[in-house]
Formats: sequence, C-alpha cells, structure tokens
Amino acid sequence: MPQLAQIKKAVSFINKKTKNFKPQIGLIAGSGLGWAIPPLEKKVIVPYTTIPGFLQSTVPGHAGNLIFGEYKGTKIVVMQGRFHFYEGYQMKEFAISVRTLKMLGVEKLLVSGAVGSMDKQLPPGSLCVLKDHINFMCNNPLIGNSREPEFGPMFFDLSEAYDKTMRKVTLAACKKIGLKAKEGVYIAVTGPNFETPSEIQMFKKWGASVVGMSVVPEVLVARQCGIKVLGLAVVTNMGCGIEKKPLSHEQTIRESKKAEINFKKLMEILFVKL
Ligand code: HPA
Repeated sequence: MPQLAQIKKAVSFINKKTKNFKPQIGLIAGSGLGWAIPPLEKKVIVPYTTIPGFLQSTVPGHAGNLIFGEYKGTKIVVMQGRFHFYEGYQMKEFAISVRTLKMLGVEKLLVSGAVGSMDKQLPPGSLCVLKDHINFMCNNPLIGNSREPEFGPMFFDLSEAYDKTMRKVTLAACKKIGLKAKEGVYIAVTGPNFETPSEIQMFKKWGASVVGMSVVPEVLVARQCGIKVLGLAVVTNMGCGIEKKPLSHEQTIRESKKAEINFKKLMEILFVKL
C-alpha cells in the first residue's frame, strides 16, 4: 500500500479512538524516557499494535503506545517507544509515525534520545539541546518517499533544523530546574554497536558534541512537512574511549532512568511554555 494511504488509515483509526483529539505538541520519548511524562488529563492510550500499518517496537525499555492527553490546557501526544534503524526497519518506514503525527495536528515535535558525549561540558546526566546535526547514518527516510504534496517539498532547507525559539525556552527551563544543559551538535549513527574510540575522535573533529542512534530520521521527516522541532539528547555516557570503562545498553537504560525526574520536570515547563 502507498505510504499516504497507509498513514490515512492509521489517522482515521486513531481519530476514532481519540474522538478527533488534535494534539499541538508531540513528544518522541527515547530510551528509558517513555515514563518521564507529566500526568495528562483526559488521557487516551492507543497501543501501536492496534494501529493499522503502524510500526512495532522491538527493543527492551521501549514500550509501544501513543498517549494522548492535556497538560494545563495544552494538547499533547507522546510516542512512548520509538523505532531504530538497527532494528531492521526500512528507512522509509520512519516517516510513517511522524507523518501520522502531522496529520493528527502536531505543530511542534520534541524528539528525545540517549547519547554518548564527546564534550566534557556535557557529562552523563546532562542535556544536550540540539542546535544542528550530522546525518552519518548515510541513509534518509525521504529517499523515494517524497512525491506526495501532503508530505512537503522534496528539497527543503535545513539551515535551522532545530527551532531557535524552542531552544532558548528549553535552556531557560533547564536553568530553572537546575539541569545542566548546553547546545550541541548530534551525529547520528546506525548502531547497534557503540562506536570505536577512533570514530569518537573523528566525530569530535567534525564538530559533533554527542552521538546517538536515532533522532535524525524523525527530524528530517518532521522538517519536510513543516513541523517545528526541538531535539533533546540525554547524555548517558561519555563516548567510547573517553573514559576507561566499556559501554553497555544496560548503562544507557540505567542513566536515562536516572534522568527521568529532571526530564519530567522539564516537560512540565515545556508543555506550557513552548
Ligand atoms: N553511542 C551511540 N548511541 C548511544 C550512546 C553512544 O555512546 N549512548 C547512548 N546512545
């Protein structure tokens, strides 16, 4: 089935479940952050498994639900559980969820993810507010997947992929709650392995501050269809080779669990101020 038809089917299914709830802000929750959400009113949970044509999450620590609700009057949708290229999906498939959010009404998208840091000023537990990215996945969800006018223009500008105003609001909110945060550049890799020490040194020379295995595909789709984007990278470890100890997925999950309290506080502010 063409992707547009697939998305329309998903959207009409979801609209029936939510009685045409029109979210303004979307949040894609990264590794371990799916539960770090402020309490929502008028909550409706739609499991990915029930949505026709939607992708399914396969990684431990990633639930699979769309959660709709209101926070202090702002209409929110949370993607609790996200998809990764290393799970074996086709790049094109990354467009489905974000385009579904767009058709549901989302105007602003918060994309979070766990990262390794190449910047000593962004230690584990801190937040990198993305100001730009480098797509080193060497692939793109829009290839062969941009012909429908509903999806936006095939060629589009990325000089401000991450919204400047949203970044400013976020840095101020971090300061308020005492969360160490700084702007930086995200480099996206496919994973699933962590990087080698030489790769980390190369990324640092290229100007990247943090490295992760997600975010960029969703951001590309969102920017194409005109959604404003905020990128939030939760630092779970220093990049491979910067510290002596080996890296593990357990550490990623453990550190993002620790970040939950701050992340939730941040969402409480951003859901109102953005
Ligand atoms: N590299 C890539 N992705 C990651 C890392 C890392 O060090 N930590 C958490 N996600």
